[in-house]
Amino acid sequence: MALNVRVLEAFSLYRFFHVGDAETLALQGVSLHLDRGEIVAILGPSGSGKSTLLACLAGLDEPDGGYVELLGARLTRRPEAARAAMRATKIGILLQSGNLFDHLSVADNMLARMCLAGVVDPRRVDELLDLVGLSERRAAYPAQLSGGEAARAGLAVALAVSPPVLLADEPTGEVDAETEMMLLRLFKARRNAGEATLIVTHSEALAAHADRVVRLRDGKVVDA
Ligand SMILES: Nc1ncnc2c1ncn2[C@@H]1O[C@H](COP(=O)(O)OP(=O)(O)O)[C@@H](O)[C@H]1O
Ligand SMILES: [Mg+2]
Repeated sequence: MALNVRVLEAFSLYRFFHVGDAETLALQGVSLHLDRGEIVAILGPSGSGKSTLLACLAGLDEPDGGYVELLGARLTRRPEAARAAMRATKIGILLQSGNLFDHLSVADNMLARMCLAGVVDPRRVDELLDLVGLSERRAAYPAQLSGGEAARAGLAVALAVSPPVLLADEPTGEVDAETEMMLLRLFKARRNAGEATLIVTHSEALAAHADRVVRLRDGKVVDA
């Protein structure tokens, strides 16, 4: 039997936002973990802190309290350059938008992502473009893509370096049924390859495909 290997762990994360006199307690002591080969869904209504949590887990944002460990190494409270270096090789990030550089073609976006990690592999680009059904669109620029194509291109970039951890924010939020099936297929292929995937969603239907569901409400984990 395969050993559980913890790839990502959050310890009591807090994140507060202040706008004028108003304070939002976006994360209030959130702890969770993600093991090798797992698909975990973070399920919660709009405003429950899902995107804030994902940004902290990815090292894109710094929590006000608590910390994150990525493959056993501390990710939080390091200089941005150190966090970026850890992200480059270990984390694929699929945001709701802004996954592509506008001035680069689809294939060049993937190559740029590989460059960051220091592993340029043109064969992997071809293979991934084929997997997401964008082989014919490899030379297209983001502005020329349909919504579904842009979502699939973002996925191809997120998976370009076969990261051990994939963090996806509402990946099926605005895609057609066919793209949703493709996303699920790729997430399950990652599971078979021992790679971990964390999906942030408000969809019970999508969460039903996960190995584990962590429910978030008002910045707190409920019945995890
Ligand atoms: N940069 C920010 N500045 C102020 N408030 C924010 C900021 N980011 C998020 N929030 C607030 O934190 C709460 C959680 O937001 P978010 O993490 O985006 O929730 P979700 O992704 O679950 O919809 C919301 O009340 C939101 O308005
Ligand atoms: Mg969100």
